[in-house]
Amino acid sequence: MSTYSIITYGCQMNEHDSENIAGMLEALGYIHEEDPWSADLVVMNTCSVRENADKRFFGVLGQFKKMKKSNPEFMLCVCGCMPQQPRIIEQINKRFSWVDIVFGTQNIARLPELIEARKETGQKQRAIVDNNPNITEDEMHPVRMHPHKALVNITFGCNNFCTYCIVPYTRGREKSRLLRDVVCEIEKLAADGVREVMLLGQNVDSYKDTLGNSFADLIKAVNEIDGIDRIRFMTSHPRDISDEMIECFRSCSKLCHNIHLPVQSGSDRVLKRMNRHYDRERYLEIVDKIRRFAPDITISTDIIVGFPGETEEDFEETLDIARRVRYDSAFTFIYSAREGTPAAKFEDQIPDDVCHKRFDRLVELMDGISLEKNREYKGRVVEVLCDGSSKNSPNTYSGRTDGFKLVNFTSDKNEEDIAGEIVNVEITETKTFSLEGREVV
Ligand code: 5AD
Ligand code: SF4
Repeated sequence: MSTYSIITYGCQMNEHDSENIAGMLEALGYIHEEDPWSADLVVMNTCSVRENADKRFFGVLGQFKKMKKSNPEFMLCVCGCMPQQPRIIEQINKRFSWVDIVFGTQNIARLPELIEARKETGQKQRAIVDNNPNITEDEMHPVRMHPHKALVNITFGCNNFCTYCIVPYTRGREKSRLLRDVVCEIEKLAADGVREVMLLGQNVDSYKDTLGNSFADLIKAVNEIDGIDRIRFMTSHPRDISDEMIECFRSCSKLCHNIHLPVQSGSDRVLKRMNRHYDRERYLEIVDKIRRFAPDITISTDIIVGFPGETEEDFEETLDIARRVRYDSAFTFIYSAREGTPAAKFEDQIPDDVCHKRFDRLVELMDGISLEKNREYKGRVVEVLCDGSSKNSPNTYSGRTDGFKLVNFTSDKNEEDIAGEIVNVEITETKTFSLEGREVV
C-alpha cells in the first residue's frame, strides 16, 4: 500500500483544497501518513500571499530531491497559488524539473488522471490554467479535519484586484456555485454528523449565482437545514456587504455572531490606493449597523502596515480605527510587494525599519484590546463546540464559542463523549488569544 502526505500553507481555501486532494488520493487507495519524509507521495499545497514565500518554497522543494534517491517510487506534486505565477512555474521547470506533477488552483479535480499519466507514460505532468469555467466542487469527497465541522466553498477566485494582492492572479475570476448545490452539499454533511459549516469565499459578499441568489439568500437557505447548529463565513468585504446580509445576524438563529471584516488600513488615502472602494466613515457605519443587529458580535480584521506611501499620519488613522472598533482579534501584516501586482510598482515603498516599528506598535495596541475584550468573559458561562482534547493535557479540551473565541477547558467526560458536542463552560481565566474554564452541567 502506498502512503500520501499533504503539506498545506496559507488560507482556509487551501486547507479545504487539501481536504479534497486527500479525498481523491484515498479513493485511489493511498493511505494517510502524517510525516511527509516517510510518504510515497507528497503534495505541497502552496501559498504566495505574503513574505518570503518564494525562498521558503524553493528551499523545501529542494529538500525533497533526496527522497527521490531513497525511494524510486516517490512522487512529488506541487499545487496551490505558487505555480499559478508564470515566473514560478518557469523556475520549477528549469531548476526543479524532477518534480513529478504540478497542478494549478483550478485543476485540482485532475489530480487522479495526472498521477495515472505520470505512472503510465513516465512523463512529468504540468496542468496550470488561468480561468477554468468548470466548477468541479460537487464531484469532491473531502477528508475532513473534524467530523463535526466542515469547510464549504461558495465562491472561487476574486474580482476585486486590491492593488497589493496576488490572489486575483492565482485563483482567477470569481465564480459562485449554485445555491442549490451548496445547500445539497450541506444537507449531506448534516446527515454525516456535521454541526458547523464555514462558508468560504475570497469575498463572500459578492456571491451571486446564475439564478440571482445573493449571499443573504444563501445564509437563509442554510439556516433551514436540519442538523446544522452553526453557520460561519469567511471573508467579508466592506464594499460588498449588504444590509440584507447584516439583518441575517438577527433573523437567522444559526448564524454565529462573529465576523471577519478586513479593514486593511484606517486611512482614506491608503484605502484608495489599495483599491478597496470604501472609506473609514463607511467602514465604521457598517460596524455600527452590525452591532445594532448583533450587540454581542465579535469582530476580527486584517490590517496591512507599511503599504507604499503610508505616512505616520496614515498609520495613526489605522491605530485610531482599531481603537474605535475595538476588535476582538486582528491579523496584522507587514506589506510585502508581490510581483505582478500594481502596488509592487508604486515608487514610495516604505523602508523595513519603519514598517517593523509601526507593526510592533500596532500589535501592542491590538493585543491590549484583545485582552481587555477577553476579560469581559471572566465568570460567564458560554456555549462551546468541543473540537476534542487540547494538545497539552489529557483532561483538557478545546473548542470555540459562537463568537469564535478559543476556549481550553476541563471536563470529566471522555473525549468520545464530548468531541463534537456543544457544552456549557464557565470561564475562569482570560488570556490575549484564548479563554480558560471548566464544563458546568
Ligand atoms: N502584503 C501583506 N499582506 C497582504 N495580504 C494580502 N496581500 C498582502 C501583501 N501583499 C493580507 C491582507 C489580506 C490577508 C489575507 O492577507 O490583509 O486580507
Ligand atoms: Fe485579495 Fe482583495 Fe480579493 Fe481579498 S478581496 S483576495 S485582499 S484582491
